[in-house]
Amino acid sequence: MRKPFIAGNWKMNTDGHSGPELVKAVGQGFTQLDREKVDVAVIPPFVYLAQIVNAAKASRIAVGAQDIFYEQKGAFTGEISANMIKDVGCNYCLCGHSERRHVIGEGDELINKKVHAAINGGLLPILCVGELLEEREAGNTEQVVERQVKKDFAGLSVEKARAVTLAYEPVWAIGTGRTATPQQAQEVHAMIRELLAGLYDKSFADDMRIQYGGSVKPDNAKELMQQQDIDGLLVGGASLKADDFLAIIKASIAA
Ligand code: 13P
Repeated sequence: MRKPFIAGNWKMNTDGHSGPELVKAVGQGFTQLDREKVDVAVIPPFVYLAQIVNAAKASRIAVGAQDIFYEQKGAFTGEISANMIKDVGCNYCLCGHSERRHVIGEGDELINKKVHAAINGGLLPILCVGELLEEREAGNTEQVVERQVKKDFAGLSVEKARAVTLAYEPVWAIGTGRTATPQQAQEVHAMIRELLAGLYDKSFADDMRIQYGGSVKPDNAKELMQQQDIDGLLVGGASLKADDFLAIIKASIAA
């Protein structure tokens, strides 16, 4: 059985006051019983990570970074290494989020290096993949996602690849209010699992948690989580409101 995993990607939101308040409010609504049934993480902006790790301590909500650089240290102005993220008490980091792919311009070769660096630095990467609207409309969803998964996992042994959580986030569903239907999401999740079975083996694929992301809200979380191959949710906007994020966590337990 794959334990549900709900993560809140705060993106470039919150500040030194609202972030700790938010994580504390989520922690207070997240009971001991819930903790046994679901893993929860928040993913704040870099500059607040240490503060959020501290504010999240009592709740056992895990904390992750939104990105990392692939080198360990050195003359890379403005970049942050996996070791630094680990050092401030984080467990997770996003790799290849669609906003980094399509706003900043990251490609699969770079993302693959970041996935390797995250794992070598002791972090658990949440690797994001997903197609653009025009790619879906052209009937290329499977091809695009397959290419991303193959390139982003390149060179990872099965032992190392076990550290990864995948997140399928169709770009057209992010921040648009236009969620993929549970059936559309399930179809891609099942395809990814089959692909992983081919790249590694069936037991690896069966164990891999695959999150869905893109306009997840309290009212669609349960139906998404009821799909056989959807094991978690990567939540953007709705993770910025404690009540909504808690409702999504509860819905995932109830599914
Ligand atoms: P929204 O939930 O705001 O659509 O964002 C999804 C996302 O990009 C999470 O990483």
